[in-house]
Amino acid sequence: MSNKSSNQMWGGRFAAGPDAIMEAINASIGFDQRLAAQDIAGSQAHAAMLAAQDIISDSDADAIRKGLFTVLSEIQGGEFQFSTALEDIHMNVEARLKEIIGEPAGRLHTARSRNDQVATDVRLWVRDQLDAADQALTSLISGLLTQAEAGAGWVMPGFTHLQTAQPVTWGHHMMAYVEMFSRDLGRVRDARARMNECPLGAAALAGTSFPIDRDYTAQALGFDRPMANSLDAVSDRDFALEFLSLASICAMHLSRFAEELVIWSSAQFRFVSLSDRFSTGSSIMPQKKNPDAAELIRAKVGRIFGAHVALMMVMKGLPLAYSKDMQEDKEQVFDAADHLILALAAMDGMVRDMQANQEALAAAAGSGFSTATDLADWLVRTLNMPFRDAHHVTGALVALAEKRSCDLPELSLADMQSVHSAITEDVFSVLGVENSVASRVSFGGTAPEQVRAQIANWKGRLAI
Ligand code: ARG
Repeated sequence: MSNKSSNQMWGGRFAAGPDAIMEAINASIGFDQRLAAQDIAGSQAHAAMLAAQDIISDSDADAIRKGLFTVLSEIQGGEFQFSTALEDIHMNVEARLKEIIGEPAGRLHTARSRNDQVATDVRLWVRDQLDAADQALTSLISGLLTQAEAGAGWVMPGFTHLQTAQPVTWGHHMMAYVEMFSRDLGRVRDARARMNECPLGAAALAGTSFPIDRDYTAQALGFDRPMANSLDAVSDRDFALEFLSLASICAMHLSRFAEELVIWSSAQFRFVSLSDRFSTGSSIMPQKKNPDAAELIRAKVGRIFGAHVALMMVMKGLPLAYSKDMQEDKEQVFDAADHLILALAAMDGMVRDMQANQEALAAAAGSGFSTATDLADWLVRTLNMPFRDAHHVTGALVALAEKRSCDLPELSLADMQSVHSAITEDVFSVLGVENSVASRVSFGGTAPEQVRAQIANWKGRLAI
């Protein structure tokens, strides 16, 4: 038996227990208790496999199974006493199992190591988060499709450099985010398919001499297959990095959209009003309605991308196989997952509640000479002008309108002809924003009929 003050799990060769500072830097129980359900599921699968392979007796396996249920219910009921001296969730669970069932608990760790155990637990946890992200993204996309459908024909300004560029439709703008979030959803699904292999049975690093059945445990835990290389199985954290990477990209998309909502909800734009449910007031300025949810969503990419960078740095120099550095994966993954799922839910709520201000959108759509390109295109089409010349003539017309303090459709025909004598009355037919958007029927363009086709396509693809 080990010395009393040394660790009861691995202290056999130790004469003394760890320094308090060693215990503080070494322990992960403060955060990895979040892996309790995954850890116990992994142990249940492992114990059942050991019995099926006659590596432990059925009665020991039965005692382990029942004992693990008790431990899980204690943890879920908040009665479990976590111990820092027992370092992590794996040893906390096993030590409690021993208190409950006695000697058979010691057989659970046969043909297993904490290295394959933790790799399995974290994979199961990340897999759950990918499923949660899949649901959250699908819901957000369906909210965007509803917005797009309502406003497939509403005109609004399209911007480049945040300067008025050409009129677009509200539906088209919403559908741009549907495309982005659908790619995020694709990344979630790709990552899930790639990561769904089971490390359990890799043991410490080299595999085991016990006649284990790795297909059994892989299947019991919902994995597609066991990982094929035991060194890789305990060393790999690229599934976590892939999650953090896709989370960063998704958070960046959320942040761009959030930024637009902040701008659009300002008194200067008034493109949308956000619901009270997703806004806050000011303690000093009674008139204020602040888009705090959007601002916080905008900020989340900072911590999520930070987590990605942090884990990349942890992993980049590690020799094979396991090193304790890898214990630092969890807080990054937990934090990023929590905030990604929260940000997706908040954006979903805001999108469903927000009201587009059609009048403000339409008024802005027609300002800033937004149909100048339509005018240039008319010169090309009707007068057979080279586009470069048409661009130049249109520039002169814009300058004239600016001088007259009016928009392009308000110039008189005489004014138009003073710049180019061949211009006819027909030019006015392309200067309205409705005509402008309706004319952009190229595939993927902003015409309402194109937007409606995109909406129908995505509804079919996502079955929503
Ligand atoms: N708490 C550890 C971690 O999260 C578990 C694995 C410990 N393995 C070891 N050989 N010390 O990485």
